[in-house]
Amino acid sequence: MHACEPIAGLRSYGKGANRTILDCLFRPDWPGKVVFLPPRGPRAPAATFGRDSSVSGAVPLAADEKGLGIVTTASSADHPTRRDFLFVATGAVAAVGAAATVWPLVAQMNPDASTIAAGAPIEVDLTPIAEGQDIKVFWRGKPIYISHRTKKQIEEAQKVSLSSLPDPQPDSARVKAGHDQWLVVIGICTHLGCIPIAHEGSYDGFFCPCHGSVYDTSGRIRSGPAPTNLPVPPYTFVSDTKIQIG
Ligand code: FES
Repeated sequence: MHACEPIAGLRSYGKGANRTILDCLFRPDWPGKVVFLPPRGPRAPAATFGRDSSVSGAVPLAADEKGLGIVTTASSADHPTRRDFLFVATGAVAAVGAAATVWPLVAQMNPDASTIAAGAPIEVDLTPIAEGQDIKVFWRGKPIYISHRTKKQIEEAQKVSLSSLPDPQPDSARVKAGHDQWLVVIGICTHLGCIPIAHEGSYDGFFCPCHGSVYDTSGRIRSGPAPTNLPVPPYTFVSDTKIQIG
């Protein structure tokens, strides 16, 4: 009986080989059967492996020297493009990662809202304040009056006899040299802490409605229970039209 007879079909016709009944069915020397399978033998690696050195891009490797074949490579134009893309993509991801890491470190160096409220310096642009106007800003939670004094107000503040003042202080000591037109004071009454009203009272300065203290155009106490002048906060001119308080 032939090894590929039906009963023996579960095994191959070759001794000990791993062949199946299909091998027998399509065996070339088995009469009456159609042969479709290619002859079995050493299987060539994927399409990139062959012996034809005329293939475009074929690169002989050490294996070829041993007669095993030639490994062909793909077009050299593709790989650099893909590598470049990977380099750019990797670089972009690295840059974004670095920025995301550094940003919190930089951001945490800026003063937060509570720090600003606690006393960080503030800058004020004086340009919008017309002559004769006052504005109120807040620094360290305190109201700060900034008055753009008129020439008349400046003259009245300068001509006052110091001996008549409850808290003697020349006007020149309460303004910055060369910037007489700007008065900057803390808007808290020195009596019990009410907030005076600007451009009120008999001295065209500030009037405290709580107990009637009156301050002049230099913020000095002129009448009422307040014992001292309105304090001048620490500030500097960073330009002719801008001050920094604090
Ligand atoms: Fe201003 Fe008393 S609090 S006069």
